[in-house]
Amino acid sequence: SAIYLKDYTAPPFLIDKTELSFDLDESTTVVTSRLHMRRNPVFGASTVPLVLDGGPDVKLIGVAMDDYELPQEEYRVVDDQLIITATADSFVLTCETLIEPQNNTRLEGLYRSSSMFCTQCEAEGFRHITYYLDRPDVMSVFTTTIIADETRYPVMLSNGNEVERGKTDEGKTVVVWHDPFPKPAYLFALVAGDLAVKNDVFITQSQREVTLQIFTESHNIDKVDYAMEALKRSMRWDEETYGREYDLDIFMIVAVDDFNMGAMENKGLNIFNSSCLLASPETTTDDAYLRVEAIVAHEYFHNWSGNRVTCRDWFQLSLKEGFTVFRDQTFSADMHSATVKRVEDVSFLRTAQFAEDAGPMAHPVRPASFIEISNFYTLTVYEKGAEIVRMIHTLLGEEKFRAGSDLYFDRHDGQAVTCDDFVAAMQDASGVDLSQFKRWYSQAGTPKLSVTDAFDQALGKYCVTIKQDTPATPGQPTKLPLHIPVRIGLLDANGQSLSSSLDGATSEEHVLHLTDAEQSFEFTGLATRPVPSLLRGFSAPVKLDYNYSSQDLLLLMSSDSDGFNRWSAAQQLAVNELSQLITQAIKGETLAIESQLVHGFKALLADASLDPAMVALVLTLPNQAYLSEISTPIYPAEIKQARVYLKTLLAEALSADFERIYQQHRVTEEYQAVAEDIAHRSLKNVALSYWAEASSERAQQAVFEQFSTADNMTDQFAALSIAVHSQHNQAADMLAAFYEQWKTEPLVVNKWLMLSASQDNANALSIVKGLMAHPAFDLKNPNKVRSVLGGFGQNVAGFHKEDGSGYQFLADQIIVLNKRNPQIASRLCTPLTRWKKLKPELSAKMKSELERILAEDLSKDVYEVITKSLA
Ligand code: ARG
Ligand code: ZN
Repeated sequence: SAIYLKDYTAPPFLIDKTELSFDLDESTTVVTSRLHMRRNPVFGASTVPLVLDGGPDVKLIGVAMDDYELPQEEYRVVDDQLIITATADSFVLTCETLIEPQNNTRLEGLYRSSSMFCTQCEAEGFRHITYYLDRPDVMSVFTTTIIADETRYPVMLSNGNEVERGKTDEGKTVVVWHDPFPKPAYLFALVAGDLAVKNDVFITQSQREVTLQIFTESHNIDKVDYAMEALKRSMRWDEETYGREYDLDIFMIVAVDDFNMGAMENKGLNIFNSSCLLASPETTTDDAYLRVEAIVAHEYFHNWSGNRVTCRDWFQLSLKEGFTVFRDQTFSADMHSATVKRVEDVSFLRTAQFAEDAGPMAHPVRPASFIEISNFYTLTVYEKGAEIVRMIHTLLGEEKFRAGSDLYFDRHDGQAVTCDDFVAAMQDASGVDLSQFKRWYSQAGTPKLSVTDAFDQALGKYCVTIKQDTPATPGQPTKLPLHIPVRIGLLDANGQSLSSSLDGATSEEHVLHLTDAEQSFEFTGLATRPVPSLLRGFSAPVKLDYNYSSQDLLLLMSSDSDGFNRWSAAQQLAVNELSQLITQAIKGETLAIESQLVHGFKALLADASLDPAMVALVLTLPNQAYLSEISTPIYPAEIKQARVYLKTLLAEALSADFERIYQQHRVTEEYQAVAEDIAHRSLKNVALSYWAEASSERAQQAVFEQFSTADNMTDQFAALSIAVHSQHNQAADMLAAFYEQWKTEPLVVNKWLMLSASQDNANALSIVKGLMAHPAFDLKNPNKVRSVLGGFGQNVAGFHKEDGSGYQFLADQIIVLNKRNPQIASRLCTPLTRWKKLKPELSAKMKSELERILAEDLSKDVYEVITKSLA
């Protein structure tokens, strides 16, 4: 059943100190907790019972109060909760529990990954370890004792500092860790294993020395250098940009192979999915390098935005996630190209978050209710949450924003707070009124801006009228107008920026404050009718509707001073052309188009002054997922057909240009994951992907050459993907050779699984079934499941097969995983939640699979997604 934000009450008890002891063992792990508790003084005198959260997998051995062993009749366990009716006002509660980490397939709480013990406690994993007040507003000082056989577990880690080490009478090793910073249980971590370590040092701005350690299984320790450098860059950046310094003497990161999500910011002891930490030129693509850097930064930044200041309750998740994503995006923008980073982030948001916001799971950035909080680690909470913080940054400007963040950290250090507290700090420090703006936190759905304009030649006056409209979402039939910052510039017919006056301010760029349902803005001082460059930098997470002509779009694409809008104009032009083609395909007509993109791309490819990374992005056609998001209903096969048609048309028209670009942008120096080289590789590989679509023998050879001779994964994998997706006649051999070459590198094998599963052909389903039976596959490992089923989800011919067999297959996997790993099962449901938008024949088939899943005995995670999808 659902829980509601409006029902929040403060915790009746507090835990000042938490002493934990883990006796780790292959069969049964004994957990002893000593909780120094007292009634929460905010309630005054009270007699409410003590209710602690546990889990079905926690076996209670004994409970004592102030060392008085409680008899059976003085406590009870109901629905995984331990209830003690009579308690003093302050006491020490001792619990002994047994758990079996080796049988924990949920990967929440304490579990095993290969040969090690590790934990994942956010959001509510700690209750799978022992009984506790497992809520983020209960903050406690933790001391953790780990007892284990040192020969098997020479490394034993927890939060804070190691304070003691010794032996038990039986010869087991005892290590004690103490974390001086009060924290909620979701930030607890423990790791034990036979791990290799890389050491480093960071000197903080106040000249304190911090020991940095990254731990991996020994065969991976040669792949952590990049992450270590990224960590040091992050630490420096947070000092310089936010004035935030690290606070403990040691900062540790551990890589584990089996992990439900990307990584976790446990205090002083971050735990990472190895796919988000390890990097080497031979095994890691450029994209993955940048992801490692961004995630290392993200988890590190949580030390302040999340740990020092945490969330009052899980409805406030975006307080830490939205802000921290904004921080990591800005960090990456500063390390590389800001425009490239913005395009990538927006492209992802518009594809995946917009789809979520338009579907049955749509929810506000601060949800009002949930059944299972794990389902709310979403693109809305993370990415749209980051857009909200970015808009605050736009409304306040750099300096006032920094004053706001300083006040926020200062005011709330050591507290568990709300999104309202964050906005209040921003408002108080800046004097900017954010009262209407706050609706962004509580209103779901993507606003649509409809823009019209008029020009008065005689008065030199240009008038822009913007209407805002947010569609209904589940539980929110009507919407209020939002405060939306719209960044705008005006161009003349030659693409020159025009200066104009708005409300007395003269500038080449303005930020409009749209606050009404419909509002007009008057620009004066213009001699000719301008072309508007709207929503520069994607200044708000909205859909924009303005009737641009192809001519306008070509102009913006080639000359707007805003790099983001140059990309955006090219995308819009491509969307317009693809939409025509999709319509033709749906009608069963022969596809034909007079493409303006040919001219736009030709000019782009001829301009050597452009950033190759931006050129690569502009050349990349809107993907299947984005085109699906903007279509109603979705015709998957026809979208694919249109994309292939347009790509081939461009490839053939510009084949010589693509060949030339391919040759020009080859990087000959030794591999480095630096912006400049990444830019050349990305352009070269996009050029190759086009060139390979033109029927050219030389292109086919180039693909094979690059695959066989590349000294880095970026180029090797790009060539392999191009071969697979362009039906290269050696594609099958290349895939097989790739597996042979890399079968001992699990992260590369995952890429092979994903690419193999995405082969878009009539045999797709049997290929995928074969992959799941392949020795390289492992149902226990979330990365492998995601690779195969994620790859299959993007496989139009396989997943959207007309007979519904693709949907049926995915549903079968969800049913199996529902029992083993509810979080992963629930994530796999996402493609099925889109059923209402699909064309009728497919829609009905997808719906019947949702109904079939619903008939099973479901975890809360899967139950919530399926019931909401069918509602
Ligand atoms: N707080 C982590 C991060 O974003 C994510 C952990 C989420 N884990 C989960 N099981 N829901 O950095
Ligand atoms: Zn996070």
